Amino acid sequence: MRASDDGVTLHHETMGEGEPVLFLHGFPFAGALWHPVAERLADGWRCILPDLRGMGRSPATDAAGMDDHADDLARLLDALGETRPVAVVGMSMGGYVAFALARRHPERVRALALVDTRAEPDTEEGARARLATAERVLREGSRVVADDMVGKLFAASAPEALRSRWHAVMAATPPQGVAAALRGMAARPDSLETLRSLGRPVLVIVGAEDTVTPAESARRMADAVPGARLETVDGAGHMAVVERPDAVADALRRFLKELPPLKS
Ligand code: MLT
Repeated sequence: MRASDDGVTLHHETMGEGEPVLFLHGFPFAGALWHPVAERLADGWRCILPDLRGMGRSPATDAAGMDDHADDLARLLDALGETRPVAVVGMSMGGYVAFALARRHPERVRALALVDTRAEPDTEEGARARLATAERVLREGSRVVADDMVGKLFAASAPEALRSRWHAVMAATPPQGVAAALRGMAARPDSLETLRSLGRPVLVIVGAEDTVTPAESARRMADAVPGARLETVDGAGHMAVVERPDAVADALRRFLKELPPLKS
């Protein structure tokens, strides 16, 4: 299904009926990353799975800052006729986008579930490395990122088939989209204050073996919000969403069921 908005067309899927949950994927993947979790939750919720700008089947532009993604998502929700505030579930870069959505469109956000992500910005050195990688991707292709990332994403026990499946998705993402996302992530601000002032329920989930956005970052986010819960997923790395979708979906179900009712 596609929704048109001011010249940008975000590809997306919806599954199930009920209160809305917006699933934001990590870099450089697509909404399909959330399939195994959303399929488990579609019995009670309206799961909305966009492909963020430049990834999956959504078109790439040279600019893909976190704020651009947030505005794309607000327009997508309008196009879907979704006027209710949504529970936003963001994995890694999807978490960075969720923070931007909370800053720019706070009325849209009912609750935040932050999965294998972090609130800290890049260090100066990290941002410089990302910009250099963006240039390399434009010259040599997205395989540069796929080859670099695949060894860091999964728990030691993850099957080879899972690694090669997601390596292929990364390698097939258009270089323009990968480079724009790298530049966008390099420029993102610190979001710890966003979390502190959010005033919404927060759940933090982290794979016990995540080395990309590790347990200390997850703990810092949970500590910033009174009442926030931290769930650790054993046997999973940065890709807990596809490594242990059962555990991630169970944690989300518990969280979503306990949210204060939507105002009608
Ligand atoms: C992701 O999974 O979205 C990325 O690894 C996030 C990042 O590189 O900071």
